[in-house]
Parts: sequence; C-alpha cells; structure tokens
Amino acid sequence: MHMIGREAIAILPAAPVRHRNGDIEYAYRQDSHFHYLSGFPEPDAVAVLAPGRPQGEYLLFVREHDALRECWDGARAGTEGAVERYAADDAFPIEDIDEILPGLMEQRSQIFYSMGTHPDFDPRILSWVNGLRGQSRQEARGLQEFVALNHVLDDMRLYKSRPEQASLRRAAQIAVGAHRRAIRFARPGRMEYEVMAEVLHEFRSHNADLSYQPIVAGGANACVMHYRDNDQQLCEGDLLLLDAGCEHDYYASDITRTFPVSGKFTVVQRAVYEVVLEAQLAAIDKVRAGNHWNQPHEAAVRVVTQGLAKLGLLKGATAKLIKEQAYLPFFNHRTGHWLGLDVHDVGDYKVGGEWRVLEPGMVLTVEPGIYIRPSTKIPKEFWNIGIRIEDEVLVTSSAPEVLTAALERTPEAIESLR
Ligand code: GLY
Ligand code: MN
Ligand code: MN
Repeated sequence: MHMIGREAIAILPAAPVRHRNGDIEYAYRQDSHFHYLSGFPEPDAVAVLAPGRPQGEYLLFVREHDALRECWDGARAGTEGAVERYAADDAFPIEDIDEILPGLMEQRSQIFYSMGTHPDFDPRILSWVNGLRGQSRQEARGLQEFVALNHVLDDMRLYKSRPEQASLRRAAQIAVGAHRRAIRFARPGRMEYEVMAEVLHEFRSHNADLSYQPIVAGGANACVMHYRDNDQQLCEGDLLLLDAGCEHDYYASDITRTFPVSGKFTVVQRAVYEVVLEAQLAAIDKVRAGNHWNQPHEAAVRVVTQGLAKLGLLKGATAKLIKEQAYLPFFNHRTGHWLGLDVHDVGDYKVGGEWRVLEPGMVLTVEPGIYIRPSTKIPKEFWNIGIRIEDEVLVTSSAPEVLTAALERTPEAIESLR
C-alpha cells in the first residue's frame, strides 16, 4: 500500500478453478500473487487494497458459507473467516462485488490491476471503470489510469523474506530426499516412470507436490531438453538425468542430478561430468551481492568452453570460441532463473537495459549442462551423454548459500550413495 500510494487502489482476483477434461477439475492452486498478498486459499475471491480508507484498507471479497456446497466441497472461510483468519480489515460476499467495488474505485486516480492475466475478470474491471467514467463526465472528475500491478508485485517477490527463505529451504530439503531416493533406486532394467514414482512418493509423503513435470531422462533422452515422456527402460552404462522439484506450502524447489544407473561413471562420462561440475561451482561463486545477473552464466560458459576444448570437442582459443558461441551445440540454455512461489519466478532480469545487480534475499538456480548429440564430427564414446547439475542459491551479504547443498554432487559422493 505504501508503494502504490493513497490515490490508488489495487485489485487482484484469485485463480479460477480450471478443468482438465469434462467436469473434472485440476487440483486448485491459488494465484501466486494472490497468495503472496493474502494467503487466502480459495477460488472466487478478490483482494482489494485501498490505502488510507478509514473504514478499512485491506478488503477481501469471498464466497459466503453455503451448507450444501460445503457438504460437497469442504469448509469455506466465509466473510468472518476472511477477517479473523486472514487479517482482512473487512470482507464482503463475492456476489456483492458489483455493488461495492465501483464505489471503492470512484475516488482513486490510479487502478493497479494486471490487465491481460485474468481473461474472465478483465471485462468486469472495464465495465466498472466505464460506468465510473460515464458518471465522471457529468461530474467533471479526472479519468482513472491503469497501472500494471504485477510490476510492483514481481519486484517485491524477488526479495525473499526470512519466512520465505525458510519455506524455500523446506521445499529444497524435501527434494533433496527425493533425489537421494531416486539415486539409490535406479538401476539397469528399471523404468524411468518407476524412478518418477519414487520421487513422487517422497514428495507426497511430505505433503508436497510436483512444482513442474519432472524430467527422468535415461541415456540419450537426457539430450532432449524438455524430455517428459519418462517411459523408457534404463540400460547398463546409461546416465540418468533427473530434474525434479516439489512445491511445499506454495514454494518451489528445482534440482537436477545426473548419475550412472550401473553405479559407476565411465571414464568419458566422468570427464564430461567434471567439466559441468566445475562450471557450476564457478557460476555459484559469482552469485554474490553486487555482481550482475549474467555473471554466473558467463562463468559457466567459460568453463564449459574450456572443458569442451580439453575434451577435444572444440578447437581454438577460448576467447574466440566464446565470442563465436561455439559452445551452443552443447550448452544451449541459460544457467538459471529466479526461484520462489513459481519455479521460474517473477522478476526482471534486466533493469533499464542492463543486467540486474544481485542483492541479498534473491534466490536463483544454477544449472549448467553439456549435451552431446551423435555427430560424425564427435568421437562415438561421447555420443548421447547429457549432463546437467542444478542447485538453488540464495544471495546473501557474504558467500552464496546453496539451499540444496545437502545433496551429493561430486562423482565420488554420487557413486558412494548409489
Ligand atoms: N525444471 C525446470 C528448470 O530447471 O528450469
Ligand atoms: Mn531450473
Ligand atoms: Mn530443473
């Protein structure tokens, strides 16, 4: 409310219930911004911030109690629950929003609302504003201006508070357990989906769920960036690339490990693995307050390029190879992304055209990789090796804090766990 000011009002609808097919609903997941502001977990709700309003600044429109519906779907907070349990200053039935909300908007010159992200709600906002503009012509009042609420919230969410950091640590810890379980379980003859089942079991046992569709990629499947079929058998000598994270209490984790299903890396697998690991360590070392967003990526690119040259897969001077982006056929994704309520969390990577400067409280992933597809130009022993190592890092005022550090990462530690 301080950020939007007393001339403004902010309006944010809850996520709608979405259908999977026919009348079957997806599990309900509250909109991340709505959760961030309210913690209110139900659909058919609207949060309103009206700074300075004497009768109450923080309002929730919510579903009223309904004995029959609650018998089918479970309890609702109702208007009194919205005040008592979710700290709204005042709450109204969602059915009354047409009568109440235009009156709240009337005296405000700016409306903070994310037009275009709530397709069902946009026309209602427009109809309320148009209604007010019709009146204001007669009463000669100023026109109202729309401002994108998500810009304000994206920026706030980039800086994780202490309780948010604790939630991220918990989600990370659960995912660490799932990866350990998968590394111990995988072996030649088992199916990728069986490994996924182990991961899911660990998540659900801790009241967590998937934060994205996991990638369980044995052998050549690891070179498919968004492999999600997860239906192939693991073979002797394969590496398994497992990219899996959970959502716990709304906060996401995102970890990747790559390990040998037979228990030991081959010499060539290990040589590539060590390049990726060195790239990741160099990148993590750049996750420091005052550095800019792209420095970890630049560090990873340098180590990957040098490593590919050392393996004989690239030829030439490192500086030239980097300039020509010769590494792209092997490493064609960014080194990370913001992490928070969303796996690919909100927040701009550039500010005023320049890479964003890292500040304490920001959380990002560091996930370099090397993927070697078959090619006549590449010795056969390298074919179909795909390796990524992904961890989560918190920017602090001193050294980077790896939230997923507990999970085995060196070849020795992984072999010993396996
Ligand atoms: N698994 C999604 C990502 O690593 O970005
Ligand atoms: Mn990631
Ligand atoms: Mn990932």
